[in-house]
Amino acid sequence: PRHVARGTDGVVEIAGITVEQLKQDFGTPAFVLDEDDMRARCREFRDAFHDADVYYAGKAFLCKAVVKIIAEEGLHLDVCSGGELATALAAGMDPARIGFHGNNKSVAELERAVEAGVGRIIVDSVHEIDRLSAIAERHGRTQKVLIRVTPGVEAHTHEFIATAHEDQKFGFSIAGGTAYRAALKILDEARLDLRGFHSHIGSQIFDTSGFELAARRVLELVAEIKKARDVDLPELDLGGGFGIAYTTQDDPSAPKDLAERMRKIVEDECEAQQLVKPHVSIEPGRAIVGPAMFTLYEVGTVKELEMRTYVSVDGGMSDNIRTALYDASYSATVASRRSDSHPILARVVGKHCESGDIVVKDEFLPADVQPGDLVAVPGTGAYCRSMASNYNHVPRPPVIAVRDGAARVIVRRETEADLLALDVG
Ligand code: LLP
Repeated sequence: PRHVARGTDGVVEIAGITVEQLKQDFGTPAFVLDEDDMRARCREFRDAFHDADVYYAGKAFLCKAVVKIIAEEGLHLDVCSGGELATALAAGMDPARIGFHGNNKSVAELERAVEAGVGRIIVDSVHEIDRLSAIAERHGRTQKVLIRVTPGVEAHTHEFIATAHEDQKFGFSIAGGTAYRAALKILDEARLDLRGFHSHIGSQIFDTSGFELAARRVLELVAEIKKARDVDLPELDLGGGFGIAYTTQDDPSAPKDLAERMRKIVEDECEAQQLVKPHVSIEPGRAIVGPAMFTLYEVGTVKELEMRTYVSVDGGMSDNIRTALYDASYSATVASRRSDSHPILARVVGKHCESGDIVVKDEFLPADVQPGDLVAVPGTGAYCRSMASNYNHVPRPPVIAVRDGAARVIVRRETEADLLALDVG
């Protein structure tokens, strides 16, 4: 996060509060959000994409406070489940500024979205088109929709988070013609208002040429629809997926550069295809919240093995599954003091009952790292708390937002009572 510094005693401070203070007031492990950093990232995207709409992808991390933050900063919101939709509505998000995603939304979820007046629903299958059309009819509403397409772009990221290649579950294929047919079908539905297409090529992407290729292919499709039905589809969503720096080796593009490249490709392609330029939207999640948080852990045990030192902290794969799931890289630092001892190769591991419970695979930590030290792992704002589990019945950590020297809990720590509350009998 931006507002992080080390005091003269070596203790890390965030927005004016020391990690020692945070530990005392809220305990560990805890997710710590630099609220002004997140707000600044919202504004950077808003300013860079001033002629577009920016939908914050709630799956990265969502709670009521976050909904309020992104709404205050002028963003729209992408939700992908009834639970995310409920959170958005409970926090007072304008439904017209919500987009609803998912490859298998339930009838109940669709019904709720239509009733609430959700601005757009991104349809992902023929079954869904039929369901949504019937629901809109029943409610006497006309629902705005986008069609999720697979533009057939190979995004260079982990296989599980790449989404634009053909052999996966999302969207209608452009190359296979199903996207074209879905568009004609929706244009024939009285209760559905086809606004355009949606493409999301994957996540944690650095090479922007994938977005450009996807935009070009989608606009070719828009031109085909225009030829067939003489309609100019007014919107185009290019999805999210903008990579962030987890380690010093990652080199993400600035929102300003992304915006310029996307603007240019859309303008050029519209000119070439003689299309009216559609209103563009994007859906960053990770790039907005990822770098704005760190996880604060306390070291419990240290084991020096021959190949490396294992530093066990009081959380683990239940609050950060990304290392185990995607082989993701993180860094770690001793945040509660300065150490002048030499660096040793360490692995930061959790407290769960399996050896894959790794938070940071390789990191150099001071040789005198010891129980009681606080360790901070930066870049955990996206897909850590939101993918947290109760594995081994470990309660999920709280999220503490810090701003201008004041800290507030925005998600409280889960308790054993919370866990037991679900057990019946
Ligand atoms: N829009 C759509 C339709 C998406 O499916 C996603 C992410 C986003 C936007 C936001 O992508 P972002 O800007 O955050 O990269 N759990 C994985 C990431 C899965 C992303 C799924 N969809 C991870 O931890 O890396």
